[in-house]
Amino acid sequence: MQQVQAVVAKAKGAPVELVTINVPDPGPGEAVVQVQACGVCHTDLHYREGGINDDFPFLLGHEASGIVEAVGPDVTSVKPGDFVILNWRAVCGDCRACNRGEPQYCFNTHNATQKMTLEDGTELSPALGIGAFAEKTLVAAGQCTKVDPAARPAAVGLLGCGVMAGIGAAINTGQVGRGRSIAVIGCGGVGVAAIAGAALAGASPIIAVDISAKKLETATKLGATHTVDSSKVDPVEEIKRICAETYPGAEGADVVVEAVGRPETWKQAFYARDLAGTVVLVGVPTPDMTIPEIPLIDVFGRGGALKSSWYGDCLPSRDFPMLVDLYLQGRLDLDAFVTEEIGIDDIEAAFDKMHGGDVLRSVVIL
Ligand code: APR
Ligand code: ZN
Ligand code: ZN
Repeated sequence: MQQVQAVVAKAKGAPVELVTINVPDPGPGEAVVQVQACGVCHTDLHYREGGINDDFPFLLGHEASGIVEAVGPDVTSVKPGDFVILNWRAVCGDCRACNRGEPQYCFNTHNATQKMTLEDGTELSPALGIGAFAEKTLVAAGQCTKVDPAARPAAVGLLGCGVMAGIGAAINTGQVGRGRSIAVIGCGGVGVAAIAGAALAGASPIIAVDISAKKLETATKLGATHTVDSSKVDPVEEIKRICAETYPGAEGADVVVEAVGRPETWKQAFYARDLAGTVVLVGVPTPDMTIPEIPLIDVFGRGGALKSSWYGDCLPSRDFPMLVDLYLQGRLDLDAFVTEEIGIDDIEAAFDKMHGGDVLRSVVIL
């Protein structure tokens, strides 16, 4: 067991606190990781606000990279000294999804068995089973994916959550590629990641939609070929017009990614897709939201697919090393997502900045 500094949310709505925690030595199937960088994600704020569950105290942070410090007796997948990105879906290898060759949909993902605790022995609930706003954290070995250590920790750690969700929504769930059009509604961190993913895959046109001009500028930097300010024009008509310019006869985009998480933007996505096109919902709705009223004949008549994308349908062991390599080759600009590097005691300030619209990601450097 060892003691380290970490950021904990002790009670619903209360500001986070920097405290000393106990990190057990890794047992079977576990690893202790010395965290190097961890992004501040909406989900961390959500935990602090009690919006996910009431299992306080939470050890926040889950978009992280670091160096494996120690592994449990039976662990062979990683070893001390490996540079890893942490993931929140360690697959079991033996459920129905795993057995049919689709481990990215594993029904039985797992975390470390032992618990990290406060100094008084209170068990901590690590955010998404990770808890990386800490100098060191205990995870399942399967949550560690080894990647090229030449990469900048702050940039590639973001693949652990929001950036992977966006890239995967376009590439894995939406299956975009050359000769395919895509529109992305909502250009925050997740939406622009979808745009970067679409650009990597060779999609064209790549249409960015947002109500903020500043967000649309960032979207252009990351690969959008067209921008639509939906506070000024009807985004559905604009998407249709732009797609028809490239592909005569197209009645919308082949793939429309919804990265806001609201019924009205999902409805825009529904009507902005081409016949037989795909809608991908990656924005996270609140539990009270419902599907907007759409005549069933429109669902039937347009064909295609209405999908949702969870963690970008990623398989960390396949996708993390590939995306890190593309980053190192200069083909995927993960640095663009790091708006600022901050200290571990600046997390409350980073939460405040999330609503301002100027920050894609604040990343804690440890
Ligand atoms: N039309 C278009 N864009 C909109 C609209 C709208 N009606 N309302 C908000 N937006 C834009 C905002 O301007 C912002 O750029 O959606 C974007 C949302 O971005 P962020 O708040 O930065 O959120 P992000 O981290 O990208 O996550 C997007 O996915 O992971 C989930 O919980 C997350 O639901 C959220 C979504
Ligand atoms: Zn499984
Ligand atoms: Zn996250």
